[in-house]
Amino acid sequence: MRFGDEEGEEIAVDIKNKCFDKKKHNAQSTANSPESVSSSAELTLSSSESLQVIKAALQNYSSNNFPQGVLSVCLHIDVKEQQQNINVNLVMPFPCQGELEEIAANLTDTLAQSVVFNVQLKIDSVRGFSLKGSQQNIANIIAVASGKGGVGKSTTTVNLAYALIAEGAKVGILDADIYGPSVPTLIGLKGAKPRSTDGKLMTPLMAHGLHAMSIGFLVDENDATVWRGPMASGAFHQLLNETIWPELDYLLIDMPPGTGDIQLTLAQKVPVAAAVIVTTPQDIALDDAVKGITMFDKVQVPVLGLIENMSYHVCENCGHESHIFGQSGGVLMAQKKQIDLLGQLPLNIDIRQDADFGQSDIIENSAGEIASLYRRIARNITGQLFLQLDKRSPLTASIEETE
Ligand SMILES: Nc1ncnc2c1ncn2[C@@H]1O[C@H](COP(=O)(O)OP(=O)(O)OP(=O)(O)O)[C@@H](O)[C@H]1O
Ligand SMILES: [Mg+2]
Repeated sequence: MRFGDEEGEEIAVDIKNKCFDKKKHNAQSTANSPESVSSSAELTLSSSESLQVIKAALQNYSSNNFPQGVLSVCLHIDVKEQQQNINVNLVMPFPCQGELEEIAANLTDTLAQSVVFNVQLKIDSVRGFSLKGSQQNIANIIAVASGKGGVGKSTTTVNLAYALIAEGAKVGILDADIYGPSVPTLIGLKGAKPRSTDGKLMTPLMAHGLHAMSIGFLVDENDATVWRGPMASGAFHQLLNETIWPELDYLLIDMPPGTGDIQLTLAQKVPVAAAVIVTTPQDIALDDAVKGITMFDKVQVPVLGLIENMSYHVCENCGHESHIFGQSGGVLMAQKKQIDLLGQLPLNIDIRQDADFGQSDIIENSAGEIASLYRRIARNITGQLFLQLDKRSPLTASIEETE
């Protein structure tokens, strides 16, 4: 049954075949909550009316990642009603399970009937990028960089990788920090060695669903620190080209800190789809973050936005929020450079302890408070990657209208 039909138990809408009339779609919709489509939670709605409410909620919903509603980017949707439950199955081009769960919760209230959204991902390369050789299984490479060292870039990259896995994506991480690889420690694989089936290509290691490669798996930490630029660059090249990655939706690269020659060379050598910059709100880190943005501009890699780490600290005893590294620095910088602020993360003892322990909390507790923050940022990164750069994005492509 299609949305709006009178009878039946199932709807199937292929957005590619434009079963919905997009002329009716209101891009200027101001509704940002499904509640706005119905205020009659007490009413018992017939099956077809429920479907209309769900359709309206998905069309009228508006957020940074869905500026023109959910249906404008949805690849396929079907709805099955089973006893008291309504299961909405969607195929989406970027991770959004966490965001859609919020719409489902509102709909459950509105309809007084359990509405569950199941998101299946179909993630393609943006910008028509096609990667070659050992990277051909990777859909999108995203570089995570910072100008200044020690701002929490590696910790943030690892947590974002697990956040994307929690959202249903297939994810890998490449530790490009040749001089100070910390990914092996952060994912609890310090001292582990990758295998090779043919003596040439290496298989990445796997930690709780995350595929990982790092120079730290290959050489002793102390050896790498004394390498000269060309040696380090050669080692990175080897890592990149001699690793046989499985099929991945996203490969996150933990870039080395700084904006010198080695970073520039890496940014040029890797077929990166886009970059994100991690900073703290502190002036000195922000100044260096600007250098990071400039570096990516030079090599024509789009910067999706800024992540402000250690933005605030909430006292565990009294709940008081303090701004140890200053306040609003990232917000102002994002405005000034006209890039998105993808999210703010607290200075939090659990994040530090999990990093030292080598196991992200998101693995065990993907619905926790910290996990939700990382998942939101992960969705913002990948949502903006699609919206800003994919040729099928409603922001960059023209939508064909149907009768
Ligand atoms: N949000 C956070 N809350 C608490 N501690 C954090 C947070 N983010 C990072 N840390 C801690 O800060 C320290 C530096 O983090 P990390 O190694 O990830 O930074 P980095 O930017 O990758 O550093 P480098 O420049 O050396 O590569 C680590 O001890 C880490 O556990
Ligand atoms: Mg690091």
